Amino acid sequence: MTNPSLLILPGDGIGPEVMAEVRKIIDWIGDKRGVTFDVSEDLVGGAAYDKHGVPLADETMAKAQEVDAVLLGAVGGPKYDDLDFSVKPERGLLRLRKEMDLYSNLRPAQCFDALADFSSLKRDIVSGLDIMIVRELTSGVYFGEPRGIFEENGERVGINTQRYTETEIERGARSAFELAMKRNKRLCSMEKANVMESGILWREVVTRVGKDYPEVELSHMYADNGAMQLVRAPKQFDVIYTDNLFGDILSDCAAMLTGSLGMLPSASLGAPMANGRPKALYEPVHGSAPDIAGEGKANPCACILSFAMALRYSFDMGDEADRLEAAVEKVLADGVRTGDLSNEEGVKPVSTSDMGDAVIAALNANL
Ligand code: NAD
Ligand code: IPM
Ligand code: MN
Repeated sequence: MTNPSLLILPGDGIGPEVMAEVRKIIDWIGDKRGVTFDVSEDLVGGAAYDKHGVPLADETMAKAQEVDAVLLGAVGGPKYDDLDFSVKPERGLLRLRKEMDLYSNLRPAQCFDALADFSSLKRDIVSGLDIMIVRELTSGVYFGEPRGIFEENGERVGINTQRYTETEIERGARSAFELAMKRNKRLCSMEKANVMESGILWREVVTRVGKDYPEVELSHMYADNGAMQLVRAPKQFDVIYTDNLFGDILSDCAAMLTGSLGMLPSASLGAPMANGRPKALYEPVHGSAPDIAGEGKANPCACILSFAMALRYSFDMGDEADRLEAAVEKVLADGVRTGDLSNEEGVKPVSTSDMGDAVIAALNANL
């Protein structure tokens, strides 16, 4: 049997720092659990631009199409702010998502009890929270045409187009309903059908797909109300299904329910490959955090938990994923935290690398 294959794209800023901690876990699984991954590493984002003049080389794209899963750190940073739009670091990530056709982006937000006081909301509102945002990832206003900056009546106009086909809405909806079936069987779809035609179609298609899942309690909410409800009473939700842009915003918002953006993992899944597993890319929800990059301060948990999602969804290693998530929870409960989850009176911050070592120690303790 061939080894499972992984392409690692650390990217920019804190990307390489948090990915180094995932590497420790990959090595640990090889040593202690007898599963050796074929790991290759390559460049994406600003790092790829620096070497190749593009944020994702064609060879890297081709490799991403071949492996069982891609792990990505983060892309972007102020150094690249003035680049032409077509070669900005973020375009590399968007190309991966689009060409791998990763239409279903799972962004779970779980509040570990030990972190409930770090949320900007009251403990009661967030403790025990466990929701899943499913963000449509390959269409909508991120990719719709026409787009660009044009001259019109002597001034410039910036245009982006929200566009969704029924097929696009439907396939993401199916993945969200399937997840709801494995969870608490509640799905809330969010759009703005009150002002957008694409929202009207979204609501119609999701309702139609819902007929195939009679056990799932389906509700609809305007996305602005959804943002408010997410902050007012987030535990009312189980699975949320929403479009590309609303999903981007709502998931950052959900991050603060967990205590830190440094806690939120994600899985971007596409159609099944020959091995029956979905095409997949795993990445933390956070970005390259230029304000703390290079200082060893980044929280690696989001990236580590993204790897746990890879174990579950790409490698059929659900037990190992559970163990890894439990190890992260244990370390946090023991008060080992990076700066984003520390405070002066209480917990003293540890470095990114110490945090990774603590997760390894917790894994060893629970062999
Ligand atoms: P960001 O997520 O990089 O940072 C927002 C804030 O959260 C910062 O204060 C940062 O220090 C903090 N933060 C983020 N991750 C953290 C972690 N793991 N540990 C501790 N603190 C953390 O968002 P931004 O500042 O708006 O964007 C910076 C760059 O990252 C931009 O170029 C943006 O386009 C890019 N970005 C990339 C991705 C990605 O690669 N998937 C996602 C979001 C933003
Ligand atoms: C995210 C990021 C990306 C997005 C950027 C970096 C392209 O914010 O993954 O949440 O907008 O999707
Ligand atoms: Mn985002």
